[in-house]
Amino acid sequence: MKVTILTQFPDMFAPLAGSILGRAADNGLLDIAVVNIRDYTADKHRKTDDTPFGGGAGMVMTPQPAFDALRAVGAQGKRILYMSPRGPILDQALAQDLAGEEEFFILCGHYEGVDQRILDAWRMEEVSIGDYILTGGELAAMVLVDCVSRLIPGVLGSSVSLEEESIYSGLLEYPQYTKPREYEGLAVPEVLFNGNHRLIHLWQFEESVRLTAQRRPDLLKKFLQQPHDFTKDEKKILEKVLQETQSIE
Ligand code: ADE
Repeated sequence: MKVTILTQFPDMFAPLAGSILGRAADNGLLDIAVVNIRDYTADKHRKTDDTPFGGGAGMVMTPQPAFDALRAVGAQGKRILYMSPRGPILDQALAQDLAGEEEFFILCGHYEGVDQRILDAWRMEEVSIGDYILTGGELAAMVLVDCVSRLIPGVLGSSVSLEEESIYSGLLEYPQYTKPREYEGLAVPEVLFNGNHRLIHLWQFEESVRLTAQRRPDLLKKFLQQPHDFTKDEKKILEKVLQETQSIE
């Protein structure tokens, strides 16, 4: 997958070179190009923004450097995201959708944003990472790239964890434990040692459903609206937990 990020602050993307994403780049699974919009400004002072028409605080990215940078990277007719608190909030479904793309582009704005003509003329898709305001789109772009990249086959060391995730997709994750079996009198739940994978799975499913019902009833509602092939035991667990929590009307 190729992702081209257009930004006035390319240095902010240095962390993407490390860890799992750096390895994905080395393995040829992921190609992240970071382009400095400032390199495309025709202004002799290398300015890329100006004061807003109509007044108000802050600066707005001017069309010229953005248009020229987008043309130079070949974004014409391609999927271009603009990181902005005005867009729909990034979720796992959008991440899955983007993971199926061979290539997409991300524009990062700052201060009061970008001239609306950039968004309109290039048919940009606005994407938010949550209902709060960041100083710019760079951190949001990194969040998006991170969560999309890990869905590309081969990027994570093992695909087992992704399969697990898809079984429970839409539910919060059950609690995990590791060695030692007991620590300062705190024991790991017995069921995890009985070697019965069906029982372990049912315990994990119950914990996932319970956590989701308690903390994110909105997610549980969505999960239950999707088609699922629940086993008899899973259905029983669902009914029990729903009765217990009475979180879904
Ligand atoms: N830019 C500023 N705030 C943002 C947010 N919450 N999501 C995406 N981009 C942003």
